[in-house]
Parts: sequence; C-alpha cells; structure tokens
Amino acid sequence: MTAVWVRGGMIVTASDVFAGDVWIEDGVIRQVGVVRPSGEAHIIDAPGMYVMPGAIDEHTHMGMPFNGTVSADWDTETIAAAIGGTTTIVDFAIQRRGGTLVEAIETWRNKADGRTAIDYGLHVAITDPRPEVIAEIPEAVKRGVTTVKVFMAYKGEMMVDDTALFQTLLAAREVGALVMIHAENGDAVVLLQDRLYEANKRAPRYHAESRPLEVEAEATRRAIALAKLADAPLFIVHVTGREPMEEIRRARHRGQRVYGETCPQYLLLDESYLVLPGFEGAKYVCSPPLRHASHQEALWTALAEGVLQTIGTDHCSFNFREQKHMGRDDFRKIPNGLNGIENWVQLIYTYGVCQGRISLSRMVDLISTQPAKLMGLYPRKGTLAVGADADLLIYDPSGSTTITAQTQHQNSDYNAYEGFVVQGKPQWVLLRGNVIVQEGKHVGTLQDGRFVPCSPYSAAYGEKAPFDSRQLQAELVDA
Ligand code: URP
Ligand code: ZN
Ligand code: ZN
Ligand code: ZN
Repeated sequence: MTAVWVRGGMIVTASDVFAGDVWIEDGVIRQVGVVRPSGEAHIIDAPGMYVMPGAIDEHTHMGMPFNGTVSADWDTETIAAAIGGTTTIVDFAIQRRGGTLVEAIETWRNKADGRTAIDYGLHVAITDPRPEVIAEIPEAVKRGVTTVKVFMAYKGEMMVDDTALFQTLLAAREVGALVMIHAENGDAVVLLQDRLYEANKRAPRYHAESRPLEVEAEATRRAIALAKLADAPLFIVHVTGREPMEEIRRARHRGQRVYGETCPQYLLLDESYLVLPGFEGAKYVCSPPLRHASHQEALWTALAEGVLQTIGTDHCSFNFREQKHMGRDDFRKIPNGLNGIENWVQLIYTYGVCQGRISLSRMVDLISTQPAKLMGLYPRKGTLAVGADADLLIYDPSGSTTITAQTQHQNSDYNAYEGFVVQGKPQWVLLRGNVIVQEGKHVGTLQDGRFVPCSPYSAAYGEKAPFDSRQLQAELVDA
C-alpha cells in the first residue's frame, strides 16, 4: 500500500490547532506536523481545510427492530455516515427476549460485516435480565463489547427494573464494562400514555406530553444513585434538557464518575416540531422527546464546560410515509427515532463552532476524542497521533449548503434538519488510510468497514480504575 501524504492543512485535535501535514503508511499515522517524506506517496492537498480525526458516533441504531418495524439499515446509513465525516460508529446490539447477549452480539456482527462503509464497535443492550444473562457480561467484554445499555423505559419491550439495573452495574464493574442508561421512568410513561389516549389525545404531540422532563430527571437521579451504591461509572445518553443535565453536574461535583451525552436534535430542534400540521409531527417523535427551545443554550453550555462529554446522533431512522404512519391514530405506535448521521458534523460545526458556542478543538473532543476514550477505542481511534488508525476527516469550511432530503444519502423520505443551512462540508474522508470519500463523493465499498473491539476499563473508570497500568508493568518486570 502506498503512503498517503495530507499536505498543508490545518490540523485540529482535541487540544491543538496548527498548520501541518499527516503522513500515513499501512493505514496508520506515522508522522504529524512537519513531515519528512520517506518514499512515494498519494498526495492530498488540503490548504484552507481542517484535518481532524474522523467523527465517532457512539450512539446509532442500524437495522433495529422497534414497535414491529425496523430502522434504516447498515448499507445506506453507513455510506451516509461516511459522506458526513463519520469513520466509526458504535451501534446497539439488542438482546432478544428469551435470547442471550452473545446471540445479540453475533446477530449484529452478522448484520454489519460486509455491509458497512465505516468501522464499527458494539454496545449490548440487556432487555431480558435473567441471572445467566447478567453472568454473560464478562463474555461480552472478551468479545470486545465493553458497554452495556440499560433501558429504564419502553415497558413491556426493552425496559428492565431497578434490580436488574443494580445487578448490571455490579457485574459490569467487575470486568471494567461501562453501563449506559436510557433514563426515563417507564412506569410513569405508560400510565401517562394510557391516560392521554383514553382522553382522546392521540396526536404526535402527546408523545412528548407523556414523557415530561421530570420523567427523565427522576430516572437520571435514580440511575446515578444506584451507580454510586455500586461504585460503578455511568454514562447517561441522550440528555435532553436542563434538569437531567443538572443531575449529572451535581454528581460530577461530588466526584462521581458520571458522564453524559446529548444529541443534535436536542441542541437544534424543539417541541414545536411535534405540532406541525398533517401528522408531520410524527417525523420528530423520539425518546426522550424534544423539549422547549429554552433548554438548548443550557445544553450547549454544558458541552462547552465539560458537564456533558460527548455528542452522539442516536440515529434511528424511519420513513414517514409508512413507518411513522403506523401511529396515525395512536402516538404510542409511532416508531421512535430520528435520522441525523449524514449531517451531524456539519450541524455541530455550523451551530456550535461558527456561532461561538464551542471551539474547534472542543468540537473534535466532543465528536471524536471523548467518544473514543469512553468507549475504550482510544488512542487507536479518536485522535491524530503517531500510531493511531489513519481515520481522517478533511473538512472544507468554505461555502454553505441547505440540508434537504432530496439530495441526502440516508434511506428516508425526510431529513429531520430539512432547511437548515450548514457551513462547509467533508471533502475527503480516510478510513485506515483508504480514501472512502473524495471531493464529497463516496468512493469506497461496503466491505471497507471492520469490527473494532473496545477495551474494558476505558477512561470512564478514571483514576479509580482497578486496572493500574504502572502496577501491571511492575508485575511484568518482576516476573
Ligand atoms: O427515540 C429513540 N431514541 N429511539 C432509539 C432508541 C433509544 O431509545 O435510544
Ligand atoms: Zn435510548
Ligand atoms: Zn414545554
Ligand atoms: Zn438510542
């Protein structure tokens, strides 16, 4: 494989911005900054462009069964992801009721292998927490699946109770796995849903009314308390607003290892979309739901200050015409989820960096470095450093475009960000040194992506990690 020389760009990492080059051999970064060419190379000239680590979306649902239908699948969605600047996703393998975690992991790997344009890791979601299933967590870790999701909502489908959540926290801690939480009080949600339905309130807006902010804040508080009891780190995903975010802030101030993610939809869309005429509100039904716009600035500030550590898309794409219409007469039957993986990097750049809410380096931190660290993928992924996989996003900040479903690659009949104007676009994307996007066009194949195992005892364990690398080194020297 010939070397690749990315010349004359502006290199952006989570800590630095500087003019420099990148030299790649055998899919790995060999030199960064001042490059001394060591032979022939394929040259990519990048003046005026940002050269960043590829985005890592640690929250996707490709081909996920939900409410009797299935979300958009690996092939189209990973090509859309690549075009948008994402080089790795971490997708949720969902345990089948009656099934096992190993079965879920194998099912997801069989779905993804040979059908993904970018690299991927997996989380596993426990939905049927029999004792033998909790006991499988070490086996999941051995297979490179080191993050375990627990749904505190979706009663009767994926929800588990506090016993199972607490058992999962204790078991995960033993083997350095990280528990991820969907924080909503599922019991309260079902009660509120049924009351609204009986009162003839059946339109999309009532989806949000059945899941008010306190439902999320309470579950967030409860999960944090159980994690404290278990002395286990915790990662709360899709934080939608001020109150649940403040729970995370308070826990972190106490010194607890609690981490939080928010998503582009909570930063840029709001509950007014749910009342769009002609059932269009269904396009914006996701859980937890979109909130009042006044929460957005608080979330941006939390991202800038480090109260929240990552942005993930929660990409879970359904089409409007058939799938969202399953809930035409009953909001409870609308499949939950939005698309976003094709445009999230552009959206965060435009509305985060260009509008002065976060710095360029903080953007890289939020969409690549921190996700890699929390998932146990760092430093192989998530940075531009010697020895790292050469996953590069070369972003041209010039020019603007308007997002529209008419030109998207996501397999849906709508785009949740229709009409949003974005600044710049991914020009080249490299996956382990291979050019997969050239001048904005996908030039790779669905065989390009590979499974990447995640390591246990990720940065989420912080200084309290039972795995002490210095001690381990000393033991090895003694031996
Ligand atoms: O509405 C959503 N977020 N659908 C995907 C599943 C989940 O809860 O993350
Ligand atoms: Zn969720
Ligand atoms: Zn409101
Ligand atoms: Zn999700």
